[in-house]
Amino acid sequence: MRPDDRIPIQSGPGNGRPMKRHHTAHYYAHRVKESLTTRVSKLICAIFLFLLFLVGIITFILWLSLRPHRPRFHVEEFAIPALAQGGGPETAQIIYNATARNANQNIGVYYDTMQLTVFYQDQNIGGMPLLFPFYQEPKNTTVIAGQLGGDTLRVTNQLWQQFLADRARGQVVFRLEITSIIRFKISTWDSKHHTMHANCPVGVGPDGFILAAYRDKRCPVYFS
Ligand SMILES: *[C@@H]1O[C@H](CO)[C@@H](O)[C@H](O)[C@H]1NC(C)=O
Ligand SMILES: *[C@@H]1O[C@H](CO)[C@@H](O)[C@H](O)[C@H]1NC(C)=O
Repeated sequence: MRPDDRIPIQSGPGNGRPMKRHHTAHYYAHRVKESLTTRVSKLICAIFLFLLFLVGIITFILWLSLRPHRPRFHVEEFAIPALAQGGGPETAQIIYNATARNANQNIGVYYDTMQLTVFYQDQNIGGMPLLFPFYQEPKNTTVIAGQLGGDTLRVTNQLWQQFLADRARGQVVFRLEITSIIRFKISTWDSKHHTMHANCPVGVGPDGFILAAYRDKRCPVYFS
């Protein structure tokens, strides 16, 4: 081999431009072979990238269609009739009715535990464990309804006076929190446990019943 064969590019002035020189047949054969291998490796590379892209798209679509929606909670009813009837905290009761909806098309939800708690200005004023562990089918709604009173409602006289003062101003605002430990069921696969909190603000009017502004509103849900 002459040095020319291996140095297609000349350094110095005109740097980088292809050389116009006399080359041997051997040189051109070498160039053709080289460009063939480059083309083949480029093709393989392109096919590989395309497959990778395809796999990415399929994964993305699967993820979109299987991604579980969190259950949706709404408060349908919430009342403390004693507020309007001038009763005291001893006889007070809270009547509640909320719904939990599984909006997923194909994903079921296991509720392993569920706890309802009522807060007033971030003070826990009562609560109870709810329902037995149950399984909620896709597109199904479960009613969570009941009463708090006696042991499950702890309102001091001082708090009751605050309720009455709020009532005189138009509304008493509570927060209903439903905490559950859930698992998603996707086909035959069960997800791990997630602790889920639904936080529903509920305002009751002077009559002791939930105000229209709070009824049937979707409660924010977060996981912890
Ligand atoms: C609770 O509310 C739902 C939805 O409005 C209703 O279908 C259900 O009958 C109510 N349950 C009770 C016990 O009030
Ligand atoms: C929802 O679940 C309840 C209780 O398991 C069941 O009776 C009802 O048929 C279900 N509804 C639908 C639409 O699957």
